[in-house]
Amino acid sequence: MCGIIGYCGPRAASDVLLDGLKRLEYRGYDSAGISVGHNSSLKVFKKEGKIRVLRDAVPEGVDGQWGIGHTRWATHGGVNDINAHPHLDCTGKIAICHNGIIENYIALKEKLIDEGHAFKSDTDSEVIAHLVETFYEGDLEAAVKSTVSLLKGTYGILVMHSDHQDLIIGARNGSPMVLGLGDGEMFIASDVSAMIAHTKQVVYFEDGEVVRLDRHAYSVTDMRNRPVDKKVDSISWELEEMEKGDYPFYMLKEIHEQVVSIPRAMSGRIDEDQATAVLGGLNMSEMELLGVKRVMIIAAGTSYYAGRVVAYLLESLARIPAVTELASEVRYRNPIVEEGTLYFALSQSGETLDTLMAIRELQRKGGRVLGICNVVGSTIARESNGGVYIHSGPEIAVASTKAFTSQMTALYLFVLKMARMRHMAWPEGKKFIEGLQSVPEKISRIFEQEDHIKTLAKKYHEAESFLFLGRGLNYPVALEGALKLKEVAYIHAEGYSAAEIKHGPIALINEETPSLFIVPDDHLRDKVLSNMKEIKARKGPVIALCVEGDKDATDIADDVMYVPKSEEIFHPFLSVVPLQLFAYHCALELGRDVDQPRNLAKSVTVE
Ligand code: AGP
Repeated sequence: MCGIIGYCGPRAASDVLLDGLKRLEYRGYDSAGISVGHNSSLKVFKKEGKIRVLRDAVPEGVDGQWGIGHTRWATHGGVNDINAHPHLDCTGKIAICHNGIIENYIALKEKLIDEGHAFKSDTDSEVIAHLVETFYEGDLEAAVKSTVSLLKGTYGILVMHSDHQDLIIGARNGSPMVLGLGDGEMFIASDVSAMIAHTKQVVYFEDGEVVRLDRHAYSVTDMRNRPVDKKVDSISWELEEMEKGDYPFYMLKEIHEQVVSIPRAMSGRIDEDQATAVLGGLNMSEMELLGVKRVMIIAAGTSYYAGRVVAYLLESLARIPAVTELASEVRYRNPIVEEGTLYFALSQSGETLDTLMAIRELQRKGGRVLGICNVVGSTIARESNGGVYIHSGPEIAVASTKAFTSQMTALYLFVLKMARMRHMAWPEGKKFIEGLQSVPEKISRIFEQEDHIKTLAKKYHEAESFLFLGRGLNYPVALEGALKLKEVAYIHAEGYSAAEIKHGPIALINEETPSLFIVPDDHLRDKVLSNMKEIKARKGPVIALCVEGDKDATDIADDVMYVPKSEEIFHPFLSVVPLQLFAYHCALELGRDVDQPRNLAKSVTVE
């Protein structure tokens, strides 16, 4: 959730840290700070608000060649300058940045206060600075190791000491951390976006590892001081992919990128001759795949909704029982892991702690978990037993858009493979591939309606509450549409099965509460039209999101958005796009911070 960065090298550390924090800002943006070392003293700057506020507070050309920085998503303690990181010990010589939650901080804090330590902030993190102070006897790395051995919870920690010029110690448990190898300089951060402008050579860390770095070298050891050999990886993303280009917001850019991100998720994974998919990353033989009796998909947020679409399809096309569950629920309900069940973990960031913890629980019980991730080298991707990268390119807007359709693409290919191994004949496989390949072009036609969607946003953005309704494959899309509107426009929105409203939510309907119906072009269409009429009969405004030329839906609804005609199984790819645009334009009308909505963070690394 928080972003952390450290730098050792010849440049002005404050500039590198502030630039890195700007790129990490999507991880948390309520306050930020840096600490830079110069002549055996630390200079610390901390500010509530965005990185630009911090930047204004840091004097031009401040001296210091090594330092650490932090962008915060508050968990413990309000949002203010004092609770912003870095935190200092009593001597002012030790500075720490922390991403995660220290669950036993109250007991530790009480003990430290009894011992005479003075705390300045209300955070859980400050105990780390005072613990390092307690253990420090000239060896900073040893002091950090003793400190983390007492911590319960999750952490990615960076520590510096004013007497140890050019030295940073990092430690991780449950929170991501990656080292960037430059030429005569080193970077360490919670993700690669902070360092991509400087280096593409990176080293990922695992839980329980402690890294010691200066500008020339690094070493990694475990908690028992055993050296750990690390592999150097290359970042595949380009810096330009992380820029907004001509778009006013990342969210709009990423919505539009779906015409290229979907083909990227398919690229090299289709066997046209055999009319099936090639997914080598699954690390499973055909025999093993044939032995799959059930599938469980675990995820959070938007990824969870993508999983729900695919679970429908796995059952209907591959005839494999499939469910999608919230990762946060799976972990704590003591799941039954049975032979024959295959697990998928869906995560754009690959760092969502709820999902990661659920994976570990399933693996502990012998489950085979495959990861569907976007961020290469992310913890979930590394810890899964196999998987597929969706290759969407960086998704920077906090509201996820292109990852949703790319995750579906990757898993649709899995459905195709499983279906072709079971009941699906070659011509149907061929038709499936053609249908999937036609999706990007159809999405590009939806963008022609953007002005119209903007007009609808102008009309409806003042609504206090919205219902998003769909059935079948489009039910999870309705849930996703409601999530998008909540996240970026802060409009209360409920996603429901269109069939289910009569069982309760219809009580919410009045002249001020719009209902947006996703009208499919399948066997459920007439049912949904009846559900629309039920709302109209109660004077509720109705927006229909239907297939071009659907005269019945157009006649019933007050307003309409269209998607091109497609096979019903590809409808979710199309229906989600106008909902993303609608949420975006409502947010713009309301003057919201589209890319960094209040209270949210992109990568949710706390439980
Ligand atoms: C999506 O718009 C959200 N910001 C959020 O629900 C997100 O999808 C969820 O936190 C899961 O993230 P992940 O895909 O990176 O695991």
